[in-house]
Amino acid sequence: EKLEMFVDDLPHLPRLRGYHFVNGSLKPRSIQIGMFFKKWKFHRDLPATPVFAYGLSWHTATVPGPTIEAAYGLDTSVTWQNHLPSSHILPWDPTISPAIPKHGGIPTVVHLHGGIHEPSSDGNADSWFTAGFNETGKKWTKTMTHYVNKQHPGNMWYHDHAAGLTRVNLLAGLLGAYILRHSSIESPLRLPTGREFDRPLIVFDRGFRRDGSIYMNATGNNPQIHPQWQPEYFGDAIIVNGKAWPRLTVQRRKYRFRIINAANARFFRFFFSNGLRFVVIGSDSAYLPKPVRTKSIILAPSEIVDVVVDFSKSKTKTTILANNAAYPYPSGDPVTEENSKVMKFIIKDESVSDTSTIPKKLIQYPLADVSTSVRTRYIAMFEYVSKDDEPTHLYINGLPYNAAVREFPKIGTSEVWEVINLTEDNHPLHIHLGLFKVLEQRALVETEEFTECMTKELDAVKCQINKYARGNKTAVTAHEQGWKNVFKMMPGHVTKILVRFSYIHSNESYSFDATQEPGYVYHCHILDHEDNMMMRPFEMVK
Ligand code: C2O
Ligand code: CU
Repeated sequence: EKLEMFVDDLPHLPRLRGYHFVNGSLKPRSIQIGMFFKKWKFHRDLPATPVFAYGLSWHTATVPGPTIEAAYGLDTSVTWQNHLPSSHILPWDPTISPAIPKHGGIPTVVHLHGGIHEPSSDGNADSWFTAGFNETGKKWTKTMTHYVNKQHPGNMWYHDHAAGLTRVNLLAGLLGAYILRHSSIESPLRLPTGREFDRPLIVFDRGFRRDGSIYMNATGNNPQIHPQWQPEYFGDAIIVNGKAWPRLTVQRRKYRFRIINAANARFFRFFFSNGLRFVVIGSDSAYLPKPVRTKSIILAPSEIVDVVVDFSKSKTKTTILANNAAYPYPSGDPVTEENSKVMKFIIKDESVSDTSTIPKKLIQYPLADVSTSVRTRYIAMFEYVSKDDEPTHLYINGLPYNAAVREFPKIGTSEVWEVINLTEDNHPLHIHLGLFKVLEQRALVETEEFTECMTKELDAVKCQINKYARGNKTAVTAHEQGWKNVFKMMPGHVTKILVRFSYIHSNESYSFDATQEPGYVYHCHILDHEDNMMMRPFEMVK
């Protein structure tokens, strides 16, 4: 039988300060955060689910993990500790070249998504480690990761990134929010603040068995080649902050929600059932220059949208945060009754005073200037299928993750990347370290001819990209014109982005050495794609 919706309250996730108060002043902090095997209650009527959870201790570990709140200019150092058992709770697949430790255990490594920091703290897929650091991957260098917190304020999230295991490690629960605050810049904005009125909403989908365990199909779509791997994971239940279809009672006032799509493969098109609007103030890790009002928001896996919702504008006593994005996106199945609902807001009757504001202007960063670009790169996305047309793996530029590095961007420069999507799916491309602006999305004409050439030659210039990239343009939505670190690459289109390999809020160079080993990566953030090779390394140079 089906789980009843809106019976659990939206939980407050534990908050963890990334800094210390010492004698009235703020100081950097170092923390130890563990990964624990425990059980988590996703719904009132569902038996507790075996999960992997981040936390200071086994008792306090949660799914999602604690929200880390860092402060600008104060380093946060974290020793991530793996306390996981010897075998996984979900079916992984040894044939897609995952990390496989010789002595057992579950490889893990943490990436701070949206963070601008040294490569050795970036969570490279080959920097994995097992319980007690017993065994480590070939790019592992140290036990303590170091987040300098020198970038612009905004929203990030931390999650596992182990080679070929990212999808199962996140499905098991290894993810959490990370907020970087810069009070002298943000306080004057007078946005809604405090634990009640400023909340992360971490959204993902999961399937469950009757005993409460997470359901993941253990038979691959192409079992001769990959016995377990499936091209996309989808679950029927929609989880927010660790509860299935929760409810939240709100006052008639403004709230700030930092919405993170932490699903493996599901896109959401969010809207309110009563037509209430979102006021978008930030996308991914950065504030927009000014607020943008919209009735719907499409969020791909790993995209973040920072919104203000003013419940005093509601004409109804309740409203449902709903979803109508097909899965896979954009041309898969329509949503079911279950996954068309996300959570419910119950709006109190009495009016309250609200001193928070939605300012006319937010934070202005230097404009993205294409004339500053030092070069153009072509990044092509391919899907390979077997004889019976089932996906077997995905590559970027025709290369697997472990092929030699080909991109060496220079610190402090900007580059134009033309991302050519030769598949039928929308792939959210995420670039570590860099931030980018979306300049243009243009359809390919005579796509088959071009794809055929690209498959043979793997060279966009040789295949005359300019001859084919002249179809219709799709406008970039107003709230997606700011700085981003992930964006939706439309199928059959070329998406042109300007990537900046330096801070966006100042002309200062990075406050760490970005050229050290191990390098950074860029990849599709559909985790099932990322794990089956839709990821490439890049290295920064001086
Ligand atoms: Cu959100 Cu490379 O990751
Ligand atoms: Cu993809």
